[in-house]
Amino acid sequence: MFDQLFEHFSTLSYLVVVLFFILLGYRPPWWSRKSLDCRKRDVQDIPGPLSLPVLGTRWIFSFGSYSFEKIHEFYEDMQRKYGTIMKEEALFNVPVISVFEKQDIEKVLKSTSKFPIRPPTEAIAWYRRSKPERYASTGLVNEQGEKWHFLRTNLTTDLTSPRTISSFLPQVQDIAEDWCCLLKELRNSNDEISNLEQLVEQVGLETSCALVLGRRMGFLLQKDISETARQLAEAVHQHFISTRDTYFGLPIWKIFNTPAYSKLAESEDIIYTLALELICTADEATKESAVFQSVLRADIDEREKTAAIVDFIAAGIHTLKNSLVFLLYLIAKHPETQEKILGDSSKTYLKACVTEMFRVLPTANCLARVTEEDLELSGYRINAGSVLLCHTGIACKDERNFKNATEFYPDRWLNEQRSQTSSNATFLVTPFGVGKRICPGKRFIEQVLPLILEHTIRRFELRTVKPMELQFEFLVSPKGPTSMIFKDRF
Ligand code: HEM
Repeated sequence: MFDQLFEHFSTLSYLVVVLFFILLGYRPPWWSRKSLDCRKRDVQDIPGPLSLPVLGTRWIFSFGSYSFEKIHEFYEDMQRKYGTIMKEEALFNVPVISVFEKQDIEKVLKSTSKFPIRPPTEAIAWYRRSKPERYASTGLVNEQGEKWHFLRTNLTTDLTSPRTISSFLPQVQDIAEDWCCLLKELRNSNDEISNLEQLVEQVGLETSCALVLGRRMGFLLQKDISETARQLAEAVHQHFISTRDTYFGLPIWKIFNTPAYSKLAESEDIIYTLALELICTADEATKESAVFQSVLRADIDEREKTAAIVDFIAAGIHTLKNSLVFLLYLIAKHPETQEKILGDSSKTYLKACVTEMFRVLPTANCLARVTEEDLELSGYRINAGSVLLCHTGIACKDERNFKNATEFYPDRWLNEQRSQTSSNATFLVTPFGVGKRICPGKRFIEQVLPLILEHTIRRFELRTVKPMELQFEFLVSPKGPTSMIFKDRF
């Protein structure tokens, strides 16, 4: 059959096809090798997996040996295979460069810029642009340049202020108390909680709403999670998964509605509607909340205000859930850390545990940027405008940066043990990002995590039941359900 097909192809047709691919920028792997030593190496010389014309390397996650859930393992394998730097290609063969070396990561993240560019999650931006009645822009997370700067200055000043954050301390203490009561109530007769993710998600919801709306929603008081909380948590979870699928899959959602895009649109819709409901039922406490007030007072389009509150609530739930599950799991797996937490009144060790969790199991394991100046990375010349992925999570597990790098060892962050950390490698522990685009929720989360951990350890002795598996949901997440023992201490 193929013979018959090829008979109809003339030499000219072959030439036209070859020319077509060359015009699209496709080059076979041997193309540039010959002259490699005679000139400075640039982006096209960076090694990486097979790239197809137009589609680039995105086929790997749709037809190759890596599923979407294992994308974090794909990058670990690529680092083992290609070393310090690796290139993928997005649609129309746009290069996306991964860097794994401390020096390269530092160069990218420390290069200064007035308005740092983080590549947007295109599908969300696409959806928001299609809904001008709801969104005046693509939002703080996805906007760039002057527009991003305008939103950032107008929306996050109170959110990032230490005074505002410390005013939340009593509420966070109450949340930690309610969390411990809920654990007590829901354990089985063996002191086991069998789906930790679900309960911790309720903490994420309650905490994010307390921060943004300034009031307690009661998501931790009911034995059976309320319908609003369940829907909101499910929609946020779905939102991350479909963001991953549209981002790493073939971008055909730009041509027609794929299931991944439809689910993304549906989850955006649910989050927006539920968050709007919460805003509309604002009580006196909400009206007095510093974060809520600062958004309402901002001199910006009304649509931006709602979108910001939606984004703040959504940004906290899943990130906090993953981080808290990881923290409890690592502490449960290392019983000696529990004794040290109990014996340290200065709380230094507690903070060291949180930092070490972010080093060993960061939920955001990679930071993305578009370079605004030419850079030299691992001996390759990278042009301004290139998309770069800085794999801080992988660099944190490199023996050259941290001794016994895969071990959870909070003591390495204490002064007398600093030798466990190579000089300036601490820069790699950047769970909230860096520079002007740093997460505005950082201060709040840094207050929440040690506090909840301390309350839990004072009340319970923690034990793991089985090893935890990970899966990629745009964030590195526990592949639940995680079981854990919470045994009373008194
Ligand atoms: C454990 C919890 C959290 C983690 C690990 C986390 C992590 C991150 C990271 C890595 C970034 C990208 C920073 C960069 O590109 O340099 C980011 C951005 C962002 N985060 Fe968080 N985050 C958390 C909680 C929150 C909370 C509670 C809020 C709500 C206020 C929030 C709101 C945002 C926003 C709005 C951005 C975009 C900022 C911008 O582009 O200017 N995050 N976060």
